[in-house]
Amino acid sequence: MAIKPVLRMGNPKLLRIAEPVTNFDTQELHTLIEDMQETQKAKNGVGIAAPQIDVNLQVIAFGFDKNPRYPNQKPIPSSVLINPEIKIMTDETEELWEGCLCVPGLRGLVKRYTCVHYRGYDPKGNLIEGEAKGFHARILQHETDHLKAILFPARVPNLQMFGFEEELAGTIEAFYAQRNKS
Ligand code: NI
Repeated sequence: MAIKPVLRMGNPKLLRIAEPVTNFDTQELHTLIEDMQETQKAKNGVGIAAPQIDVNLQVIAFGFDKNPRYPNQKPIPSSVLINPEIKIMTDETEELWEGCLCVPGLRGLVKRYTCVHYRGYDPKGNLIEGEAKGFHARILQHETDHLKAILFPARVPNLQMFGFEEELAGTIEAFYAQRNKS
């Protein structure tokens, strides 16, 4: 089990389409998942996809208890999803200041669907499916984007709403204060 370096945006390796996992319950797969979880935790991520640590497979992991990068979000249990597929279940979207371990220090305002159905496998190859809402649905959309070589800045429609977290602090605070009022 090890903390792995996270590839940063601009690295051509992040532009590959991830391959499906074909062998389940292998030592290699279990080690990959442990490395992903360890790396996510060390970097205060809420989720991680295998391509971020230079493993081009369709594996995502997510979940957190209390997260300093998203302090207002309720905990999500630790989960792993292999070869995930998501289906959008609503037209409703929500905006949130999103970040990514591949784009350290930057945030952008990203609209995501508020409800998705997900389907995939656990590390032993058992089918998992269910419905996710809100921030949970957002994470699934963000992490499955990684498997298709899409990083969140490509989902920021207004680049005035994208930049360095420290510079944006006031803007982000005002955005959430305004939203909580309405
Ligand atoms: Ni990310």
